[in-house]
Amino acid sequence: METVKIGILGLGTVGGGAYEILKMNRELIEKRIQKKIEVVKVLERNMERINSLGLSESTATQNPDDIINDPEIDIVVEALGGIEPSSTFMLNALNNGKSVVTPNKAAVAANFDKLREAAVKNDVEFRFEASVGGGIPALTAIQEALCGNEFSEVMGIVNGTTNYILTKMTDLGLNYDDVLKDAQAKGFAEADPTADVEGIDVANKLSILMALCFDKYVPPAEIPTEGISKITMDDIEAAKSRNCKIKLIAHAKRNGEEIEYSVKPMEIDINHPLAGVSNEFNAIYITGNAVDEVMFYGKGAGALPTGSAIVGDILAIAKAM
Ligand code: HSE
Repeated sequence: METVKIGILGLGTVGGGAYEILKMNRELIEKRIQKKIEVVKVLERNMERINSLGLSESTATQNPDDIINDPEIDIVVEALGGIEPSSTFMLNALNNGKSVVTPNKAAVAANFDKLREAAVKNDVEFRFEASVGGGIPALTAIQEALCGNEFSEVMGIVNGTTNYILTKMTDLGLNYDDVLKDAQAKGFAEADPTADVEGIDVANKLSILMALCFDKYVPPAEIPTEGISKITMDDIEAAKSRNCKIKLIAHAKRNGEEIEYSVKPMEIDINHPLAGVSNEFNAIYITGNAVDEVMFYGKGAGALPTGSAIVGDILAIAKAM
């Protein structure tokens, strides 16, 4: 059986999650794609992490070039996070003829055109399903099953941390600061939650969604963005009195030739499907001129849900090789 060789840059929550899935479902994967998937090198300095995942210590390196320049490696998974050096690593891997898979929304949104062009130029694949909505396979659906549609609108709840905070404020009447602390204790919110609560993470994801839905790349910094840090219990109660829930919404809508876009807290009618998306769950609601309205719903974060999207991308590439 042919073997497809993988290098992983970063074995944190998400990179480690992808590795765990490849291990947990190895037999099933081989049967399905009739190829073996072998993780041959990982960029990780923490040997405890390597051992706890059951990887041999000889697979670990501290030099990204050992992966990016290894002629044996077919697919590079970039799971380091942040715009740089991740973007440079991905561009170098693509230019070395390797396909790249990443969950890194900040890097994809910042360098969308450069990364896609490098993949086309080198006749390799660049896939980033896990960058928006974690395990929800919306990006592949937009590009494949829904590819025949002209899209008029996309609305997304694409940040688990802020959705968890708003849900607890709405359902339990808890105030913002207390819920944020609870979210941090449960591991949903980062120690520095600025990118989540100020909407920056959502702007990255909306930039990616717009590029795919409207073939229009808008850098995240140009998307009007407002987070949830100023939402008070009075705002929540006022929304309730109008039969609405406040949700942090990534929104883009076609208006003639123009696309209007924003990230901001919006009052969503309790009968709208997005109002039922609670806690750390995500959803992406799209309107196409053929399919009409569709909604994708699922876990937007976490090791295995996000790893599921990474592994899906790896296997799509491996099958086509
Ligand atoms: N911090 C992000 C969230 C992680 O809370 O949704 C997934 O992108």
